[in-house]
Amino acid sequence: MKSIYLDNAATTRVDDAVVKEMSKYFSDSYGNASSSHLVGKEAKRAISEAREIIAKSIGAKDEEIFFTSGGTEANNWALKGLFFANPGKNHIVTTKIEHDCVLETCRWLESQGAKITYLGVDKEGFVNPRDVERAITPNTLLVSILHGNNEIGTIQDLWEIGEICRKKGVYLHTDACQSYTKTLLDVKKQSIDLITLNAHKIHGPKGVGALYIRKGVKITPLFHGGGQESFFRSGTENIPGIIGFAKSVKIASSGDVKRMIKLRDKFISDLLKIPHTKLNGPQGDRRLCNNINISFSNVDAEAIGDYLVSYGISSSIGSACSSNTLEGMHKRSHVLEAIGLSDMEMKSSVRFSISKYTKEEELNYASRIISNVVEKLRKMSPLR
Ligand SMILES: Cc1ncc(COP(=O)(O)O)c(C=O)c1O
Repeated sequence: MKSIYLDNAATTRVDDAVVKEMSKYFSDSYGNASSSHLVGKEAKRAISEAREIIAKSIGAKDEEIFFTSGGTEANNWALKGLFFANPGKNHIVTTKIEHDCVLETCRWLESQGAKITYLGVDKEGFVNPRDVERAITPNTLLVSILHGNNEIGTIQDLWEIGEICRKKGVYLHTDACQSYTKTLLDVKKQSIDLITLNAHKIHGPKGVGALYIRKGVKITPLFHGGGQESFFRSGTENIPGIIGFAKSVKIASSGDVKRMIKLRDKFISDLLKIPHTKLNGPQGDRRLCNNINISFSNVDAEAIGDYLVSYGISSSIGSACSSNTLEGMHKRSHVLEAIGLSDMEMKSSVRFSISKYTKEEELNYASRIISNVVEKLRKMSPLR
């Protein structure tokens, strides 16, 4: 059976060049970067080269990049680290469409005395910069806004939000796990103080990421111990992971992004030819190049996903989970809810996410199968 992987927003295949680069750091240069002998020094040198590559990719200084175990840790660190280092201010502004690792951290911080404003978004998932401005009070410490949304692909305008934050003297943090290497990220142009990055969404390994922290930002470490990462993130460095992360950034190309945009738009237009379908999230260059999210009216997304699996197609369901009845228990997508979808629309929404490895013929095949599956399910649906 064919295998067509359309769940690249969940994770990506590791590029062969990344695997090759990493392998040396398991078997030959396996030293601990804290050791002063030759093998240790080699590890230290490799980390500093990797740091330089990541820093350059976002216009930062090398010493502003701190390696972490991934996006979840970096987001936890950004929010908790700022909150505990700045006891004079306890207000955080964020949005209703953040990744769970930001939302759950915010909820936990509320139990520690933080006040959180969760801003709403418009029908395409955009936060209004004026709402950000209005939400900021003298007590606001931080604005944390997801750059590229993992469910519906909305890319926020960080330029304007960054300017507002700078003018008001509050920190701006962005989770860029989905947008990194896919759209511009520049710490100076966009006035960003902290950025969460990870490797496994860009053909790098799982379990590694980074937090960019602008020099001068007052933040406390999440991990204490041996003093690695300039005493800001203790723990022996994941050297193969860090090397693989840097390699995945180095080989990311704007040509791949352009190709994905073409494939994405053709796939969207093919899927929208299916009657009673609707695209969730924006069109054009304000949408992540790899994201497609469609509501198939009156069809249970979970049933679509199950059928697609039988054809070898992997997709993702943002809103449905364990139930196979439309009235039953289902996990709501907080993102689809925030852009105003009805319960029925949420339960009929499927996310497809492509990568540089996705081929046009795979998408042509997938759209034909999806069209047949939706037609079949609609015929069976009691809601017809
Ligand atoms: C937007 C976003 N933030 C954070 C994360 C979490 O990153 P990680 O899996 O590296 O912990 C993800 C991955 O699911 C994500 O899509």
